[in-house]
Amino acid sequence: MFSFLFIAALCASCLASPTSHSSFSPAVGGGSGTSFAIKKGDERLTGVRLWEIQGAYITGLQLRYGYIWSNRVGRVVGNPHELILFDGEVIVQVSGKYHNSNYIYQLMFVTSRGRSLIVGQPVQFSFNFYAAHPDAELSLLSGRNNSAGITAIAAHWEHFDIQTTALPMSD
Ligand SMILES: *[C@@H]1O[C@H](CO)[C@@H](O)[C@H](O)[C@H]1NC(C)=O
Repeated sequence: MFSFLFIAALCASCLASPTSHSSFSPAVGGGSGTSFAIKKGDERLTGVRLWEIQGAYITGLQLRYGYIWSNRVGRVVGNPHELILFDGEVIVQVSGKYHNSNYIYQLMFVTSRGRSLIVGQPVQFSFNFYAAHPDAELSLLSGRNNSAGITAIAAHWEHFDIQTTALPMSD
């Protein structure tokens, strides 16, 4: 009996740990320039914005947490390509194409509802990032950028604890 209770308590504490279901998809890309990490907001990830050079590579990116857009990484070129998530929708996959010695050429974000944002060109090497745990979602991106565009990208996955949200989202 005692050992049963002990194991039950142990499992409860591992479920409650904020990092228990997090994982990291290591960077791909040439990687010149300086490193970046999106500054993660307090609320759930709710949107993605990307900028590209027509017929070429990804120049900039930005993530939205709750109603607040993060710091922008890289360079703005023309209008952003944007995906705003629905209530409860999360990003479950980040895929794309990268060149070994320069830029990220394509980025694709896939949601739990099967919608996707695809920007850039299908050239060079492919990559596919997924969470290691079924209840984890994309929480932030990191990588490297130079003055022209995004040169490397990595993904961070976490389980978002609903109890920490102050208010339900509405639109
Ligand atoms: C990376 O992007 C940021 C944000 O636009 C910019 O301030 C920084 O200078 C860029 N890095 C390099 C090496 O140009």
